[in-house]
Amino acid sequence: MGERHDMPVESRLRPAAPIPREGLLNRLQAVREIGRNAVAAWSEHAYRELYVYDRNWMQDFLLVNDPEGVKHVLLDNPQNYVKSRQLQRTTGPALGNGLFNADGESWRSQRRTAAPMFSMRHIAEFAGPMAKVAQAELERWREGAEFDAAEEMMRLTYRIIVETMFSGDVRIDYAAMARHFVTYLDTLGRIDILTTLGLPYWAPTPKRLRAGVAIRFFRREIGALIDKRAGEIARGTAPNDLLTLLLTTKDPEGGALFGRDEVYDNVMTFMFAGHETTANTLAWTLYLLSQFPEIDERVAAEARAAEGDPARMPYARQVIEESLRLYPPAPFVSRDSVGPDRVGPVEIRGKTSVLISPWLIQRHRKLWDDPDYFDPDRFSPERRDKIHRFAYLPFGAGPRICIGMGFAMQEALIALGAIVSRWRLHLVPGHPVVPLARLTLRPEFGIKMKLERR
Ligand code: HEM
Repeated sequence: MGERHDMPVESRLRPAAPIPREGLLNRLQAVREIGRNAVAAWSEHAYRELYVYDRNWMQDFLLVNDPEGVKHVLLDNPQNYVKSRQLQRTTGPALGNGLFNADGESWRSQRRTAAPMFSMRHIAEFAGPMAKVAQAELERWREGAEFDAAEEMMRLTYRIIVETMFSGDVRIDYAAMARHFVTYLDTLGRIDILTTLGLPYWAPTPKRLRAGVAIRFFRREIGALIDKRAGEIARGTAPNDLLTLLLTTKDPEGGALFGRDEVYDNVMTFMFAGHETTANTLAWTLYLLSQFPEIDERVAAEARAAEGDPARMPYARQVIEESLRLYPPAPFVSRDSVGPDRVGPVEIRGKTSVLISPWLIQRHRKLWDDPDYFDPDRFSPERRDKIHRFAYLPFGAGPRICIGMGFAMQEALIALGAIVSRWRLHLVPGHPVVPLARLTLRPEFGIKMKLERR
């Protein structure tokens, strides 16, 4: 480490991703751009302004980059800002009216029901299964092998979510799940002109027909899982997990609180919200570590000393937090206003699409020093207090903050610790690493890595 460690911090830093090109395209063209890659469509303007307001024939639109404005929308007056209808149309065919998409009383009862699975005690109990799955996955790794780290991390986190939330009972194997999920993301998972115009999602466009195959597959498989579990509950042999909780929670009259559709929607919601985001976090973190060997060494040394205990990995946590800043797996949080309001200097009249973007805010020129540079020390105990709570939002904020935040951070630390204590990952030379936003932020061409035993 010696020589490099002594260099001024700036020399260790360099841009972590290309800055999207100039020229904010508007209206239909912008919708097309956003559908192609929602993080590349913004001009420098969007990284410098605190509010961008646009009123056109389709909708009133407000981009909020000001942390105080974000606080207003997500925390102070959330009842005026419901989940965006456009996002619901995009995710609806898969996630239905589950916890991620629901609003009002339906959201409240789902959130209350799922909350116990995410208590500190429960999360701590998941540490063992998380470590076991990570170890088992790493058994497959071989010296000198080349693989796509993004794909590997998907496998790992998918197995963890199935193990912890569904007691390993989901019979869909990773390959089948991934095939159908990618079809879904590449078809319905884009914000396209038709969804923007409000064409109902059942209207049979060619794209939607392809997505239909994926959706039918999930319906069949998860339907079978729910039937099997209902039988186990009746016989008193059901495991104590999220699925059992969803099926057995009672309403005030003593009947089942959730119908079959709501249970299905939540199995889908947790299967997907609960693995893809953490997989991307790990993939982006491994990519960053491959670019900064001295930081990689420091994380590895800490992980070996911590022997898998996430509480003893404060530096790795800083690295993951900085990775979540540069590559937020959920790059956009969108809402629709329901009534008039004022957000900062902007008067909201009726229905307005309000966009809050962790991607833009966390690289904002006025909110961060050297925003495109990788610097885990931003999150050191001495410096982290200077970060405005609403300038750093990888998990959102307010009542709809990610329910899986503690789960995801623990999982990322355990998996990263297991990986770096044994392996060094090198980016295959010339491999392009490009952030692509389709609901989540993924590396467009994967992250091709070569393995070296440490
Ligand atoms: C690094 C990993 C993760 C990131 C970056 C992330 C990010 C987010 C964000 C930004 C939201 C708020 C969306 C909004 O306000 O519109 C959210 C909500 C949600 N997340 Fe996560 N998430 C992650 C991991 C997880 C995990 C592991 C689970 C479950 C095991 C999960 C389940 C959910 C659910 C169910 C919601 C909806 C909560 C509600 O509306 O009450 N997420 N997530």
